[in-house]
Amino acid sequence: MQELILLLLLGCVLYFYFSKKDTRNAVRDAGRGDDAKADDIEFYEKQNVLFVSDKNSYSKTFEKEINNGLPHFNTLRKYSASGAQGRDYFGVKLAGETWLFPVSQQDLKEVYSYTNLGGPVESMPFRQAVGYAPKGVPFIPTSKHSKDIRKSLTPIFHSDWMEVYFGHFNRAMRDMVETWKKNSGSKRNIQKDILDMAYDSAVYSLIGSKLDVNVPYHGMDGVETIHIKDCNARTMLDFSKHSATDEFSHDRNFRNNSKDKHCENLCKNMETLQEALIGLVEARVAEISNGAEKKKTIVDAAIGLVLQGVLEDVNEGVQNGWAILNGAHLSCGNALTAALYYLLRNPKSLEKLHGEIKDELFEGKDISLDEIEAIATHAKLHDLDYMSYVIKETLRLSSPLYGKAMKVKEDLKLKSGFSVRKGTIIYPNNCVVGVSENIWKDPLKFVPERFDPESSYFKLPNGQKRESITWLAFGAGPRACSGDNFSMYFMKLGLVYLLTMLKLELIDTFKGEGYFYWIHENEMFVKIDQV
Ligand code: HEM
Repeated sequence: MQELILLLLLGCVLYFYFSKKDTRNAVRDAGRGDDAKADDIEFYEKQNVLFVSDKNSYSKTFEKEINNGLPHFNTLRKYSASGAQGRDYFGVKLAGETWLFPVSQQDLKEVYSYTNLGGPVESMPFRQAVGYAPKGVPFIPTSKHSKDIRKSLTPIFHSDWMEVYFGHFNRAMRDMVETWKKNSGSKRNIQKDILDMAYDSAVYSLIGSKLDVNVPYHGMDGVETIHIKDCNARTMLDFSKHSATDEFSHDRNFRNNSKDKHCENLCKNMETLQEALIGLVEARVAEISNGAEKKKTIVDAAIGLVLQGVLEDVNEGVQNGWAILNGAHLSCGNALTAALYYLLRNPKSLEKLHGEIKDELFEGKDISLDEIEAIATHAKLHDLDYMSYVIKETLRLSSPLYGKAMKVKEDLKLKSGFSVRKGTIIYPNNCVVGVSENIWKDPLKFVPERFDPESSYFKLPNGQKRESITWLAFGAGPRACSGDNFSMYFMKLGLVYLLTMLKLELIDTFKGEGYFYWIHENEMFVKIDQV
């Protein structure tokens, strides 16, 4: 009888242990992310994927990179530039999820083709940036609604709105060049000047006038009152620093609920910017309802789209306006600065580009500052091949955005034979793919010729054809950047002004391998001389 009781007791204990173990596993698995499987690492290692850093979690490396002033995923970038041979993917574990970073061109086209609406791969909106732009197109999943917004916004960048915008841009460039000329011989922080110039023209295109207001900025040293453009730039920088945590990667509401002081400040700054933009739009709506004439501005275009029912409400109009403003201010301003940086470091490329502008655009004539606007048209700039190569090479080495990640919704076997599990995140990250030694010869060198079909650099290092999709500065597929045409024009025109009207000498303060402006606030010094 005693044995029977003991057996019953043992049975109860075992039953209790195993039923709780299931619960514990379920809880642990739930914490691990939607569909991640415990043996993902083994599954992918068998397919020759290299898990770098601490293979169970990239989080510490991620935080260290940012704290040391390096770009996100810089560790992967380094491996990609020397250590990618024979591999198609690198892997990391982040917030319990498995992330694959392509380092060859093998599956790129196919994976992007699956991101079409309803496809088995979901392009992930910039989900961590759910601050003052929670609804704009980069932040919403691919849906009929996002497609409709894109369909309505994209033609704007090919319309006469572009002419109006570039009218403002030409004027802002002339003002900046005049100021620099007056300060000839001095050492100048040109990143700040270029960003200010980009802001001025961007804001004109947003509302049709200047916007010079000061707002409170919450930083770790207290509250400062600063220009709204500096608040925007600093907030984006703070955002990119604080987003390198496990929590941020995993939970889109983390920032809003966190008691962390950095996050609290970030929320306050984002709110300030959101309120400012909403205020602007509301003021414009009031003007329009009082009979004001329509202007060729982003805000008026957005209000028009709300009236047509393409955008849900004015708030959504604000979010899209913000995305465009940020693209034209920070992405384009920083990309133009980066192009100058690489050119000044590579005098042969600078000379070649200078020659192309002089011979082909200016047709050998001496052109004055005031004549550039009429000569450097969109069509003429389009024909300058070397100029395009320089810009592509700049964005390959140092692009303002890394591109969007994508989540695999069902188990997939790709044409190459590579199997991907449901729940895996594939991230063709421009910072990593852009320097893969499988794709680019001398990947960390600035060689604009690599985009010239006649150059030996045009092909893969093994001599085979390089697919054009390997250049991912503007992303690819249905969620690619809608401002690519605009941005190329911006950078080309900016370079024409800066290279032909001034002589610049770089005072190089960077210690690292490249120019990563999203972590070096306002830091590029140049000595300026008149031509
Ligand atoms: C040099 C400047 C720029 C670069 C390098 C850049 C790069 C990018 C990249 C990599 C993406 C993600 C693409 C993907 O998911 O595959 C993106 C998205 C986007 N960009 Fe840009 N961008 C720039 C400037 C601009 C400008 C000036 C605008 C607007 C005028 C703009 C508007 C957008 C929008 C709306 C999206 C989201 C598209 C969507 O999710 O459907 N960008 N950009």
